[in-house]
Amino acid sequence: MKGLVLSGGKGTRLRPITHTSAKQLVPIANKPIIFYGLEALVASGVTDIGIIIGDTGDEVRAAVGDGSHFGACVTYIPQEAPLGLAHAVLTAREWLGDDRFVMYLGDNLIRDGITPLVDEFRRESPDAMILLARVPEPQRFGVAELESGRVVRLIEKPPTPATDLALVGVYLFSSRIFDAISQITPSARGELEITDAIQRLIDDGASVVPHVISGWWKDTGHLEDMLEANRIILDGLERRIEGQVGEDVRIEGKVVVEKGAQLRDCVVRGPVIIGPGTIIEDAYIGPFTSIAGDCLIRRAEVEHSIVLASSRIDGVRGKIESSLIGKECEVRSRPVRPRALRLMIGDHSLLELP
Ligand code: G1P
Repeated sequence: MKGLVLSGGKGTRLRPITHTSAKQLVPIANKPIIFYGLEALVASGVTDIGIIIGDTGDEVRAAVGDGSHFGACVTYIPQEAPLGLAHAVLTAREWLGDDRFVMYLGDNLIRDGITPLVDEFRRESPDAMILLARVPEPQRFGVAELESGRVVRLIEKPPTPATDLALVGVYLFSSRIFDAISQITPSARGELEITDAIQRLIDDGASVVPHVISGWWKDTGHLEDMLEANRIILDGLERRIEGQVGEDVRIEGKVVVEKGAQLRDCVVRGPVIIGPGTIIEDAYIGPFTSIAGDCLIRRAEVEHSIVLASSRIDGVRGKIESSLIGKECEVRSRPVRPRALRLMIGDHSLLELP
């Protein structure tokens, strides 16, 4: 069985971060989201993995390499444009051949992994298997309708969903999916939807097995989802302090301080992770915060946030919370009057001021 991981797409819902970075590489608890998916595939015994890449392909290649780090063998498959999930499958057709495969969306996180599902798919050999999760806002997803445990209808982002069962971004297919894709046309958003292709399978009488998962699942499309995923993953960390921690530092709860990080005169209240080379000084780092490597947080308070590599937060008066701060950003005070806000922010940025 092969794995097909999707890491193209524009990530418009996470701009401006995704202007310069692949959304699948945004770290959750200091680890790129896509790594969680790769690890889940390898854990289920799927090691021959194709990654669909788009404009951000070079960055994805640099981060994942040949896959050996994960115990996988990775092949990169460029998609000419983000024309939909079903289009991505078509793009990989030659590489997939007649093999059965797991398609894993590179921005999805599933707590319990996929091993029992992959095992069942291997054992029972249905034409397709889909994962469903009950969600509060089904209109943001593909939505399934079941009758006596069978899938009867799948609709992509219906304005008035008939159920709260969302399609999780992990699908298991036989090569029969290619035939279904060849029969669909682009949706209103101009994409070849995998949802429509699976509906085609159902209408053609193929066996499409649904699995409603009970553990948490996150599609990290929006900032709130990233912060929530970060909360959940951080909560599962074990305390590990390998960096330098000064006498005047108070560390409470589950905190990871990576080797090479330096903490002075601060309070860190977990769950928190602090990356290598980062300096925290005269500061408070509150629960559910991930600070990547080579950052400086000084005379500031940060809570429930994700800070990417090499950023500086220095001398900021109010507490920063529920924020996603990109790479090499600077948030600082300016002691000169007038006490105005001075901003240089990128396109599609969001600032919420008290
Ligand atoms: C895609 C699928 C959708 C599914 C979701 C899961 O949505 O089209 O059916 O529920 O992934 O993450 P997209 O992220 O392309 O909007």
